[in-house]
Amino acid sequence: MTAIRILVGSVYGGALLTARAIKKELESEGHQITVLENPALEDITSSNEPLLVCTSTTGQGELPANLLPFYLALRDQLPQQPGRSFGIIVLGDSSYGDTFCGAGDLMEEALYETSARKIGDTLRIDALETMEPEAEAIPWVRAWLEQL
Ligand SMILES: Cc1cc2nc3c(=O)[nH]c(=O)nc-3n(C[C@H](O)[C@H](O)[C@H](O)COP(=O)(O)O)c2cc1C
Repeated sequence: MTAIRILVGSVYGGALLTARAIKKELESEGHQITVLENPALEDITSSNEPLLVCTSTTGQGELPANLLPFYLALRDQLPQQPGRSFGIIVLGDSSYGDTFCGAGDLMEEALYETSARKIGDTLRIDALETMEPEAEAIPWVRAWLEQL
């Protein structure tokens, strides 16, 4: 059994539904998943569970408003968590060109600055390619869990 915390960033609900689908699926397999819809820094500093970012991209490669306060606090305070495992699932739309899935890169950079350790490659889910982000996310998370 593994316990993980999912940090959600979502504007229209796609990333949130994806996080909830991951929770439902993995809890049925005995894992313990906390979905943080409005994450605060204390949500991660109060535990050492692996972190999974599940965010969409908005604006021009920006973070959704519900994840932005967490990101700003993280950048500001940089609570050091050497070796803490994290993974990134990011939703975007490749028609946005250079800013495709930019929110995932922002979160990755900020987490690296806390000395956390990324596990696996970022999963980039392209809205042009799929209407069912959870169908890509669930198998990816299963493989990610095995690398923790
Ligand atoms: C106003 C707006 C701006 C967006 N900007 C970007 C962007 O810069 N890069 C990107 O990859 N996707 C961008 N997207 C696409 C969304 O990230 C994508 O549709 C995602 O699936 C939405 O997930 P959500 O329902 O969790 O918000 C944008 C979408 C909207 C509506």
